[in-house]
Amino acid sequence: MRSYMIAGNWKMNKTPAEAVELAKAIVPMANAANCEVMIAPSFVCLPGVMDAVKGSKLIVAAQNMANEEEGAFTGETSVLMLKDLGVKMVVLGHSERRHVYGETNEVINEKVKLALKHGLRVDLCVGELLEEREAGKAEEVCFEQLEKGLAGLSKKDMSNIVIAYEPVWAIGTGKTATPDDAEAIHGSCRKKIAQLFDNEVAENTIIQYGGSVKPENVKDLMAMKNIDGGLIGGASLKADSFEALVNFNK
Ligand code: PGA
Repeated sequence: MRSYMIAGNWKMNKTPAEAVELAKAIVPMANAANCEVMIAPSFVCLPGVMDAVKGSKLIVAAQNMANEEEGAFTGETSVLMLKDLGVKMVVLGHSERRHVYGETNEVINEKVKLALKHGLRVDLCVGELLEEREAGKAEEVCFEQLEKGLAGLSKKDMSNIVIAYEPVWAIGTGKTATPDDAEAIHGSCRKKIAQLFDNEVAENTIIQYGGSVKPENVKDLMAMKNIDGGLIGGASLKADSFEALVNFNK
């Protein structure tokens, strides 16, 4: 059976010193939680954070990585560098990577395969823009991102994949999808995964919701059958609000 995963996507926030301080505050929460807990600090914060969480249950992820292992790729960070630090997970295809930095499904798929090849878990983000939702295309967009993002993966690979459904119009805007709206897409995405792989894979895949998750709405979202956790930006940046999210089921 799948578990819940509550994840903090710190985006371009926190200096290395601030990141270590926040990670240290989250360690006891993660150790006491009855769900998986993950944080994704920026690249430069990873070495200090890895040290700070050593021996704990807290999972540390990178927010992105290159689609090549090494070479002349100025400004990029390799899976080999992440592995060397002991990083075990990477967030890929976040909407800010797709829409601000123009990452395509094809590039994201290369990254997904490279991460898996090196034994990293992947948190693959999918989600529609407001105009796509208004045009009735939310499912279609998510299906395409799933199909192309997961292309070439085996059923076994899928045990290292977490999906985050993040409607782009709900990210950082304070607008959350209603639990019913989110559940509808989560259910459809799970069916799509069953089609692409099989029912067992679909039932075992964690599908997080992301987009203005906060202490006030976390319980209602997590109560939905197909919502298995959250990928959280704003509310993950303070220890007390993140603690309320991690403890949603206590
Ligand atoms: P938010 O960000 O919680 O600030 O809306 C979520 C995300 O982008 O992962």
